[in-house]
Amino acid sequence: MSHYLKMMEEKKQILITGVAGMIGSHLLDSLLESRNYRVIGLDNLSFGKLKNITLRRNDPDFRFVEGDVLDSGLVRELCRDVKTVVHLAAVKKIGESEFRLPTLLVNTRGTENVLEAARSTGARVIFASTSDVYGMSPDLPFRENGDLLLGPSMIKRWSYAVSKLYAEQLAFGYHQQYGLPVVVLRYFGGFSPRSSFQWSGGHIPIFVRAILRDREVIIHGDGSQTRSMAYVDDLVRGTVLAMEEPEAVGQIINLGNTEEVSVLETARLIHRIAATGKELKIRFIPFSEVFGQYKDISRRRPDLSRAQELLGYQPRVSFEDALRLTIEAAREENRD
Ligand SMILES: NC(=O)c1ccc[n+]([C@@H]2O[C@H](COP(=O)([O-])OP(=O)(O)OC[C@H]3O[C@@H](n4cnc5c(N)ncnc54)[C@H](O)[C@@H]3O)[C@@H](O)[C@H]2O)c1
Repeated sequence: MSHYLKMMEEKKQILITGVAGMIGSHLLDSLLESRNYRVIGLDNLSFGKLKNITLRRNDPDFRFVEGDVLDSGLVRELCRDVKTVVHLAAVKKIGESEFRLPTLLVNTRGTENVLEAARSTGARVIFASTSDVYGMSPDLPFRENGDLLLGPSMIKRWSYAVSKLYAEQLAFGYHQQYGLPVVVLRYFGGFSPRSSFQWSGGHIPIFVRAILRDREVIIHGDGSQTRSMAYVDDLVRGTVLAMEEPEAVGQIINLGNTEEVSVLETARLIHRIAATGKELKIRFIPFSEVFGQYKDISRRRPDLSRAQELLGYQPRVSFEDALRLTIEAAREENRD
């Protein structure tokens, strides 16, 4: 056997669902750059962008499949020879104008398809859950074994947390009943220059764009609500560790950054770093006007001790550095 064929055979084959999305495309970059993996990437391009993976399209270790996680036959076929599935495909947070059914159906049935397909091969499934499942829990910092406090079903914003929570239970159901190796990662807000400028991409890209274009920054409420935001490189590193670490199997693990910064302070920080020479213009909108009855989560901060113990994980990119990288990239893009 040629040296090249032997090397190809030794590489681990991975399936990433949602590969054209923010986290998926950075994970793809990281795995291909390590040269230890061959990656199949699935995405229906509903939210992700081909642009995010264009540079990798000709890499012999990568195959992109445009398709849907709701297509169980396709998911089964793609899982056939893989050792690990990183299941990121999802419909994320929804704004008031959107419907809840895509969130509920893609996030639950899509996950069931992945788990069912992995069951027949024994592949490890890394499931992307979210800090949203902690909801309005007052027990800060959020711990993986803590109680969760979600709002009423009449408020559709909760559909995202509910869908992810159900999918977590499903993953543990497959683990307990069929011995399927699953790892549940609860990502806390991540961002990068590839974050969507829509609602689902979170406040940072929207603030960056507004400040660079000298437009008003819209803040919901008084801006005192806090978030702990991580740069995508930290989330990706934690995900790769979870793919490899035997002790991670059967666990829920928070991944993110512990720096807690209010939304208002974030706008000020972006303005300071961007140094546009223009004044910061902020407009506050009452929560009720944006969310109706939905109560925004006032504080979010992860306890990362489990990630540290099991994976040796610690965030490396400071919030300020992450903002700097994102602002620079947005500036470059504006120049094009
Ligand atoms: N980014 C964050 O801050 C964050 C925080 C918590 C959890 N998560 C979770 O991490 C995962 C990745 O998040 P992201 O920020 O990269 O999101 P993203 O929206 O950028 O990526 C999700 C990808 O899934 C694809 N997709 C959606 N429905 C699909 C379907 N039916 N079939 C195939 N592909 C489909 C989209 O086109 C998109 O490329 C998601 O499961 C999300 O819920 C992300």
